[in-house]
Amino acid sequence: MAHKYPGTFISLEGPDGAGKTTQVRLLAAKLDAAAIPYVLTRDPGGTPLGKQIRHILLKPGHPVAPMTELLLYQADRAQNLAEVILPGLQAGKLVICDRYVDSSLAYQGYGRDLDLPLIQQLNAMSTGGLKPELTLLFDIESEKAMGRKHQGGHDRMENEDLSFHRKVREGYLTLAKEEPTRWRTIDASKALHTVQEEMCKIIGDHMAAKKLVFI
Ligand code: TMP
Repeated sequence: MAHKYPGTFISLEGPDGAGKTTQVRLLAAKLDAAAIPYVLTRDPGGTPLGKQIRHILLKPGHPVAPMTELLLYQADRAQNLAEVILPGLQAGKLVICDRYVDSSLAYQGYGRDLDLPLIQQLNAMSTGGLKPELTLLFDIESEKAMGRKHQGGHDRMENEDLSFHRKVREGYLTLAKEEPTRWRTIDASKALHTVQEEMCKIIGDHMAAKKLVFI
């Protein structure tokens, strides 16, 4: 399905512990201050239904088969697309999604070894084929990322071992290499303000190329 909309669609990706959520919070404050109309959402958990799916997915302590996991992420995504992402894009807004289709490829594909073409098919089904025009990869070595995460709590995915997180990171690097026009990689091990500056510069350049106002 071809999508035509006046908005701008950007996704943020990266392994657990890359600091993506902190960065997006800082960016949102700047967008608020500059009165730029935007929608900030997340996969999983961008809608009321999605919040319940997120809880099921990330709560530690019960087994979740890889295929169940994949389908729950896709169900969340289909709802987020219909309820938040598409309406935002149709209203001409900047829509920033904290994780999207590439997370399923990196985590369930590279991390859990599920079939990549099958995941691509499911991604296309849950989104009607809608892809972000720009995807930022917050890249960080798995050892460093796990060290960061250990300062906070652990969810079911973060509880996975180092080898799982290494496969996810390698998956992301492969995905970024395969589609270099959509992906931009940021070294997320750098200082918070440096990462923020790089993120704003990349998004700013993209918006400028579309002759759109940014911060
Ligand atoms: P986060 O919102 O704190 O990043 O947590 C979401 C977790 O879910 C994170 O470990 C990545 C994982 N995830 C998948 O495994 N597959 C997916 O499709 C998505 C969107 C997230």
